[in-house]
Amino acid sequence: MTESNKTATLTVHGKTYELPVHSPTAGPDVVDIRKLYGQAGVFTYDPGFTSTASCDSTITYIDGEKGELLHRGYPIDQLAEKSHFLEVCFLLLYGYLPKADELEQFESTITHHTMLHEQMQYFYRGFRRDAHPMAIMVGVVGAMSAFYHDSTDISDPRQREIASHRLIAKMPTIAAWAYKYHIGQPFVYPRNDLDYASNFLRMCFAVPAEDYEVNPILSRAMDRIFTLHADHEQNASTSTVRLASSSGANPFACVAAGIACLWGPAHGGANQACLEMLEEIGSVDRIPEFIERAKDKNDPFRLMGFGHRVYKNFDPRAKVMKQSADEVLDLLGIENNPKLQVAKALEKQALEDPYFVDKKLFPNVDFYSGIILEAMGFPTSMFTPIFALSRTVGWVSQWKEMIADPQNKIGRPRQLYLGETLRDYVDIENR
Ligand code: CMC
Repeated sequence: MTESNKTATLTVHGKTYELPVHSPTAGPDVVDIRKLYGQAGVFTYDPGFTSTASCDSTITYIDGEKGELLHRGYPIDQLAEKSHFLEVCFLLLYGYLPKADELEQFESTITHHTMLHEQMQYFYRGFRRDAHPMAIMVGVVGAMSAFYHDSTDISDPRQREIASHRLIAKMPTIAAWAYKYHIGQPFVYPRNDLDYASNFLRMCFAVPAEDYEVNPILSRAMDRIFTLHADHEQNASTSTVRLASSSGANPFACVAAGIACLWGPAHGGANQACLEMLEEIGSVDRIPEFIERAKDKNDPFRLMGFGHRVYKNFDPRAKVMKQSADEVLDLLGIENNPKLQVAKALEKQALEDPYFVDKKLFPNVDFYSGIILEAMGFPTSMFTPIFALSRTVGWVSQWKEMIADPQNKIGRPRQLYLGETLRDYVDIENR
């Protein structure tokens, strides 16, 4: 944090307070209100944290107006084009682009942690077959705390390192097995001769009865989906991981909390909700009806895959994802898919409608990722688990950063209490 001479002046109940202002390396200045309650006896009020910096961080920077997303300073479009997921994982975790031998070592470490403890199979078998794969993931990732005792001591940097590697390495196996269990097929074990994305595709789509050959274009598209979702600053699930770990909880429990938060349709669940919406719309001629519903204040319906809390001009991830979608659909020759036709027409019509233009609502990353994943053969229920496996490195990097920070303290927001004031208990016969 850069100390500056700038201050902000706040007058409360006629008394004036000087508050320190910190200047970031990029982005808006931050007014430091940490001592405000002690000095002035007031809280600040910011439900949804729309104006609150909850921590300092050196990992990811977003400029919502410019549509800019940087990981450790590198723009996401360059990373998506020139790098690959495991290199981006290294970058997020350690802060710099690895040299060739460092990358080789890191890839080997991740590859050699991909198997799950065999006993975990029985844990899966406790779920109903129709369980949502996200429900299974919340349970299984939380249960890792019970299987990997040698990496739960968060005061030991080496154990933190091992936990980070385990989470990144095992998440594809956990997600693929959630899928296999859900569809009633045997679990497929990871293979060390395959790269991260190809291994995941094989664990999802191979069956013991026949060989599965990974198509390199699909594997590249999968890797891009992982890369584009790897981290996104202090979003809801990342803040959940940070808040959970601020109490000293172990990393597996904290990441399970992040997965639970990601599941919601306003966050990671939007890609599933988006495909379900395209299915519900059904045909191009019904689009105006749904656009009208999205604009109607009395109808809770929203266009899923549109809008973003931070990006107010375009989502830089969506640009790359759209290009990837075109490549995959071209390769698979499925331009005439009805959902795709609806998606293309919906995008066009919404972007021409003054309501969406004025409110700066445009397709976000989830609008296109769902289309690619469906074309690859994933059911909608797997979309959010794939988001969770991609975001794991972001959660883990932010968690590591937070634990190593000497200023780290338990997160404990305050409230604006609007309930009853003190009153006496009334006996049941007198109510
Ligand atoms: N369809 C129709 N109207 C919308 C939509 C939408 N998708 N999104 C926002 N609006 C309207 C909203 O009604 C409000 O109108 P008004 O000012 O007249 O009340 C205005 O736009 C601002 O909306 P908001 O809810 O205050 O904005 P927010 O920043 O709190 O919400 C959002 C951001 C992503 C939750 C929201 O745009 C949304 O619900 N989108 C659909 C879900 C979605 O696609 N989520 C994925 C986000 S990207 C993946 C991720 O990072 O998790």
